[in-house]
Amino acid sequence: MIISAAIAKGGTGKSTLLRALASVALKRGYAVTLIDGDVRQNMSRWGQMLKEAGNRPETLQLVSATTPREILKAAELHNGERSVVLIDTEGTTNDNLMAGLFASDIVVVPIFFALDDVTAAIQITDHYIPLAVETRGRPLPAVFVLTKQTIIDAKARALSELRAIIQANGTPIAQHALQNRVAYRDLQSGQTLYSPDQPDAKAIAESEGVFDDVLKTFTEAMRQAA
Ligand SMILES: Nc1ncnc2c1ncn2[C@@H]1O[C@H](COP(=O)(O)OP(=O)(O)OP(=O)(O)O)[C@@H](O)[C@H]1O
Ligand SMILES: [Mg+2]
Repeated sequence: MIISAAIAKGGTGKSTLLRALASVALKRGYAVTLIDGDVRQNMSRWGQMLKEAGNRPETLQLVSATTPREILKAAELHNGERSVVLIDTEGTTNDNLMAGLFASDIVVVPIFFALDDVTAAIQITDHYIPLAVETRGRPLPAVFVLTKQTIIDAKARALSELRAIIQANGTPIAQHALQNRVAYRDLQSGQTLYSPDQPDAKAIAESEGVFDDVLKTFTEAMRQAA
């Protein structure tokens, strides 16, 4: 299973969402490959930090892939029955983003409630995904995942318009969302969701929920396409 996180907007939580999904997939016993297609190589740095902290599972591989060709090659090489391949790209429109889409079985689009982010999310589903589908000739399901949610996001009336735009898009929205939590910030250090002495049970529960939502969306999309 190959999953890419894509949105041509910086800081919406792509890398964080992928680290959370990687944590869950490792816990579930999958071999996980994280393909770092971001020139800044933050994902590779995470792998290094995990190793230094003694928290790097043996079944986690990091692959630095800074060109579209490298991304495609790595995705093909590491894909398998009991494996999860996660592709991280930069928050900008470039060939690596397209390569990530082209290679994937499903795309997760993290959405933070702000107009720019919602616009960028819709650009992915309405423009870039159709382009990838046309080129490769097979469907590419996507799922929106709300991230960095706060109590304000759930209540603010000003956000209802953004919510309506997302809902009208027709792309499924993961039932579970990632709240704004310190546990996710800590994924920038040498931690997985499960490695701290006192893991954040809520972060784990919602990340496991998002992982299941992604798998479910994929299965459902394949069933419909068949
Ligand atoms: N659910 C969350 N709770 C708290 N902080 C979060 C959450 N998701 C992301 N962050 C923080 O927000 C910042 C941006 O997140 P992240 O690096 O995942 O975004 P990104 O989309 O990968 O950005 P870029 O496009 O620059 O690669 C980071 O400091 C990260 O720790
Ligand atoms: Mg990132």
